[in-house]
Amino acid sequence: MSHAPHLTALPSSGLKGVVRAPGDKSMSHRAMILGGMARGVTEVESLLEGDDVLATARAVEAFGATVERLGEGRWRVIGRGELASPAEVIDCGNAGTGARLLMGAAAGYDLTATFDGDASLRKRPMGRVTDHLERMSARFDWSGAKGLLPATLKGGRLSAIDHVQTVASAQVKSAILLAGLNAEGVTSVTEPEKSRDHTERMLRAFGAEVDVEEAADGWVIMLRGGQPLTGTSVAVPGDPSSAAFPLAAGLIVPGSEVTVEGVMLNPLRTGLFDTWREMGGDLTISNRRTSGGEEVGDITARHSALKGVVVPQARAASMIDEYPILAATAAFAEGETVMRGVGEMRVKESDRIRLMVDGLRACGVAVEEEPEGFIVAGGAVPGGAMVHTAHDHRIAMSHQVLGLAAQAAVTVDEPEMIATSFPGFVEMMRGLGGDIS
Ligand code: S3P
Repeated sequence: MSHAPHLTALPSSGLKGVVRAPGDKSMSHRAMILGGMARGVTEVESLLEGDDVLATARAVEAFGATVERLGEGRWRVIGRGELASPAEVIDCGNAGTGARLLMGAAAGYDLTATFDGDASLRKRPMGRVTDHLERMSARFDWSGAKGLLPATLKGGRLSAIDHVQTVASAQVKSAILLAGLNAEGVTSVTEPEKSRDHTERMLRAFGAEVDVEEAADGWVIMLRGGQPLTGTSVAVPGDPSSAAFPLAAGLIVPGSEVTVEGVMLNPLRTGLFDTWREMGGDLTISNRRTSGGEEVGDITARHSALKGVVVPQARAASMIDEYPILAATAAFAEGETVMRGVGEMRVKESDRIRLMVDGLRACGVAVEEEPEGFIVAGGAVPGGAMVHTAHDHRIAMSHQVLGLAAQAAVTVDEPEMIATSFPGFVEMMRGLGGDIS
């Protein structure tokens, strides 16, 4: 994508077409990392070639694996069954998932590695992962503030821990499990609410045994240390978090009918679709099938008269990245949409509650901000604003979709960040008939 300083969405109508969701970001990071840790050849199909995943691919190579791009979305990783000290700093770019999972993966090997990232990643809390890795006996040195990148890891002989999560975080769970692979004993992570389970599923595909049990305080995931991983084939299904943007446009732009094919339907990722249905959104899922160990389907969204809802807080983990685009669609709904229990949004690529409140208000939408949530009062959306995105791809895409259905153009800054998760976004929206330039 070109590094244009701004991107503008103009009021559009009648978006039509059938598109394919880009590969899932969470699974793409994991395929690369597990491929790097495993012994042998891993072939990945439909990898998301976004900047975040490309940074992880470079990291895996720096840790000693052979990484080759065979064709569009087709990658081969040849792992040596262990990671080694990289010669250069591991630059994770904008990617929290890449940074946290790589730290966990690397912690169990006898190596030294320095992790860094862009301005946004340098502000994000790493202690939520490194504190637990330190309990397992890894060491971290912080060149600046403790808990913020850059940080240097000294990995080595780890001992298993039992970790009880206070918030459902797949990144924290995954980092601990990946470290647990090379720890002595059985590592367990207890989650109050289930978070996305791609790491557990993919560990099994690479030959590890992972047990999950329901307990009084949630779900317990257990992994015995010392299990080898063996390279395998991974077909990455379409990312529901990316599919959300063209589907949202289908719902709010008058006269639209948009189909996104091959969307992953893992129930720990589809809270947004349930919420849109409750709002009266006309969403149909067809052609349900299994791909890469996940259920996938084709989703069609038609323009709908939406009404506001109270989003159940227990659903937060299954749609944590989708609240920005939910808020954009809620701006067109009749009545209030109440989103609470989402304090985690404040520590994503940006403070997403703050950024959505500011962006929607700039577009003339009434929004109330709370410490751990926000409430959008929907209706007509004037638009006609310049929105600041603080280096956050989802804030940018949410406001571009909003602009297609608003009364006047909406412009965002730093549109180059969209390529972190959805390199073809602008072209896809244009192909559907959206006026974005
Ligand atoms: C992710 C987990 C979520 C999500 C992120 C991807 C993952 O973060 O927001 O975009 O791939 O595990 P948390 O685990 O911090 O909730």
